[in-house]
Amino acid sequence: MSSKFKPAFTRRSFLASSLAGGAATAIGTPGLAAPQIRRFSLRAAPGLARLTPVPRSETPAWGYNGLVPGPELRVRQGERLRIEVTNGLNEGTTVHWHGLRLPNAMDGVAYLTQEPIAPGETFTYEFDAVDAGTFWYHPHQRSFEQVGRGLYGPLIIDEPDPPQVDRDVTWVLDDWRLTQDGTIADDFAGPMDMSHAGRLGNTVTINGRLSEDFAVQQGERIRLRLINVANARFFALDFGTLDVRVIALDGQPVAPHSPPDGIVVLGSAMRADVMLDCPAAPGTRVQVVDRAYRDNDFRLLDVVYGNTPLRDGPPDWDIALPDNPLSEPEIASARRHEILFTGGMMGAMVERDMGIDQRRGMMGGMMSGMAGGGMWFVNGVAAEGPMLEPFLTLERGASHVLQMTNATAFSHPIHLHGHSFRVISREGKPTEYREWQDTVLISPRERVEIALVADNPGDWMFHCHILEHQAAGMMGVIRVA
Ligand code: C2O
Ligand code: CU
Repeated sequence: MSSKFKPAFTRRSFLASSLAGGAATAIGTPGLAAPQIRRFSLRAAPGLARLTPVPRSETPAWGYNGLVPGPELRVRQGERLRIEVTNGLNEGTTVHWHGLRLPNAMDGVAYLTQEPIAPGETFTYEFDAVDAGTFWYHPHQRSFEQVGRGLYGPLIIDEPDPPQVDRDVTWVLDDWRLTQDGTIADDFAGPMDMSHAGRLGNTVTINGRLSEDFAVQQGERIRLRLINVANARFFALDFGTLDVRVIALDGQPVAPHSPPDGIVVLGSAMRADVMLDCPAAPGTRVQVVDRAYRDNDFRLLDVVYGNTPLRDGPPDWDIALPDNPLSEPEIASARRHEILFTGGMMGAMVERDMGIDQRRGMMGGMMSGMAGGGMWFVNGVAAEGPMLEPFLTLERGASHVLQMTNATAFSHPIHLHGHSFRVISREGKPTEYREWQDTVLISPRERVEIALVADNPGDWMFHCHILEHQAAGMMGVIRVA
């Protein structure tokens, strides 16, 4: 980290940067056809983050505009974003707008959609906010380290007429692997992490801070936007006696429902918007507990009821979100494609159990695996190097069903760029909500079907969002043409 600028990540720089972003906003007349342009600037650079409490010193990290997470970019659906990204790192970077359906050239994937932004250089992204919802941004170049050091931020697109709430709150969830002296362990992309569950940390933060109490009032309704930006960690949040209903997944509206077993599960990169109702009496304390890893439950934070009830019971306001303009896939006539995931520790055993032909599981065999560090395979290929030829071409404008089989011993959050897809079945059984997602969590040995209309032309990344798995080969390119 030899950059000349090492700004401290402070609230003051947050205010300055958001003012800089907001002040330049074009003034337009609502209802005109030309979208209103909202200008923002982001500068990726080393700095400091307060990941451990005072009196410990701040932790050297990488951030946008001196912040971890980076500034919340927030616009209204239908507006156009123009974001100037400057690279203050001493390695190339890009910004990918995770979950947004935007033109391919704006997708921010190094070598596939653009050259990396060189140190000191600037690149301007510009695209329309087509879908309302909860999204995020992060580099797509050496992501396992750049995201792991703190480069990420929330991107919120408001509905023109959002459901009424008392508060709209975003929690960016991350974990960090900190050493004894409070610095970020620099063992990125270690073979152990790559071949197992990815880089799990030892310190969980919400919005870049160790969690504190979260104050609520009796009767309050909060729209809570959860974003999992961790390299590898999954969250499975149990909100106890709070009343939680899921209204959106990966930014896309879903029929409002209580999550199965009352637990909101988020693999890496996934988001959930939940409506949180607070039924208990003043003074009540409720623990929010993470139950993602067996025998490793931990308290994320305490929800603490204040002394002044807002109202006796939950408000009777409608919680459903309006639809986004997504094309509905036609399942009966859809073209079908199979995608097989193999590899990783204990993968051979799973493949044997599932009767997977080992040559199909790992084309090129051990040789390719050993040469490039490839440990994970998509249809028999462990991706190596940044230049990728598509492994699958989807006819543009047609409906497609991708049947994905996870023949490995680990769960994988599988992400497709440029599209949202419906998750239509698991293990051959129709899903209850046919949820739209951009990242779908697939359990070991599970078979999942997703469906989409391939309506966004270009070469799109398709990969596991455990960033160590991605780095170890678990990615490919899907062409829409
Ligand atoms: Cu969140 Cu390929 O990225
Ligand atoms: Cu994975």
